[in-house]
Amino acid sequence: MKKTIRDYDLFEKRVLIRCDFNVPMKDGVITDDYRIQSSLDTIRYALDHHAKVILLSHLGRIKEESDKKKNDLKPVAVRLSELLGKTVTFIPETRGQQLEQAVMEMNSGDVILIQNTRYEDLDGKKESKNDPELGRYWASLGDIYINDAFGTCHREHASNVGIATHLPSGIGFLVEKEIENIENVVAHPERPFTVILGGAKVSDKIKVIENLVTKADHILIGGGMAYTFLKAQGFEIGKSLLDEESIAFCQSMLSKYPDKIVLPKDHYVSESTDGQGLLKTVSETDAKDMGLDIGDETIQMFSEILKQSHTVIWNGPVGLFENPSFQKGTVALCEAMKEVSGKTIVGGGDTASAVKKLGYEDVFTHISTGGGASLELLEGKILPGIACISDK
Ligand code: 3PG
Repeated sequence: MKKTIRDYDLFEKRVLIRCDFNVPMKDGVITDDYRIQSSLDTIRYALDHHAKVILLSHLGRIKEESDKKKNDLKPVAVRLSELLGKTVTFIPETRGQQLEQAVMEMNSGDVILIQNTRYEDLDGKKESKNDPELGRYWASLGDIYINDAFGTCHREHASNVGIATHLPSGIGFLVEKEIENIENVVAHPERPFTVILGGAKVSDKIKVIENLVTKADHILIGGGMAYTFLKAQGFEIGKSLLDEESIAFCQSMLSKYPDKIVLPKDHYVSESTDGQGLLKTVSETDAKDMGLDIGDETIQMFSEILKQSHTVIWNGPVGLFENPSFQKGTVALCEAMKEVSGKTIVGGGDTASAVKKLGYEDVFTHISTGGGASLELLEGKILPGIACISDK
């Protein structure tokens, strides 16, 4: 068991909290603040316990000088101030005198946000390569380190693993909630346990399938990745997404787990991604068709399985939901979730944004803040950002 923020006396301590404020932005305006909202419990807890709160996060990827401007963290400090109802002092540098002075002058209840940790990547990728000197420097600014950046836990960077090497550490409430809702649920699901997998490529999810197929009662496959499975069964898939090198893997999964893996029986096809859908059974698919959403019979079949399930984990939309002509399947499965008695968990960036965009976020018991990180937890991996935290 890892230590959590509750295991420390925070009174008048400088508490470094690594958050994942890697939020979508357009022209300097935050377009979805879910990750900021999700960090509030931990920050408020530290403030309520009279800590001096120093926040760190990355934003985007910094490969050249021109990447800095669009990935400046200042708008996050502004939004966070609004949400907390108190000043968040933004320090526009990742090291140096201004930062050190500001930390020295902090009182309990103050909050500082340091500039994007990946600004350090311009000089030899110091953040992303976990430069030991950088981790030590950031650690020198605090007394306790709390990792609440779930979305970044699959990375071994200076601002997570690096700092944790030098300070007493714990996880925050968000990371704790993500572990409880993904890792612990996969390990001890209430049955029947159903997994919905969608998205484009089978090859991105081979390890997820291998791990979950042994634990779940049903794996419902939709989206682009269904077509490699259908091809493996010998169906014509036309111009639908095909992941050639995964055909053999799909064949072996289908022969080992014929009763667990459930594939679409029908689908909406079109000749282009911006066209209108035509409903066909999978055996009616012709060479010009591109499958872009699950069909009505499949919706019915998947929904029946979902309604009888007591745990559902969903990763990957089942259709090209960005085009309203192909969002029927994703919407219908969101509707079916309303009737699941038990946990309904969304893991992964695309599915989370589909669910939010379609207005179904309240239907789910947990929407993960992690893309790659939630996928790696579903693969059964140990995440370095969690492994580095002090044990109880
Ligand atoms: C994410 O958005 O998945 C995390 O913030 C990690 O970002 P990265 O893929 O750029 O490391």
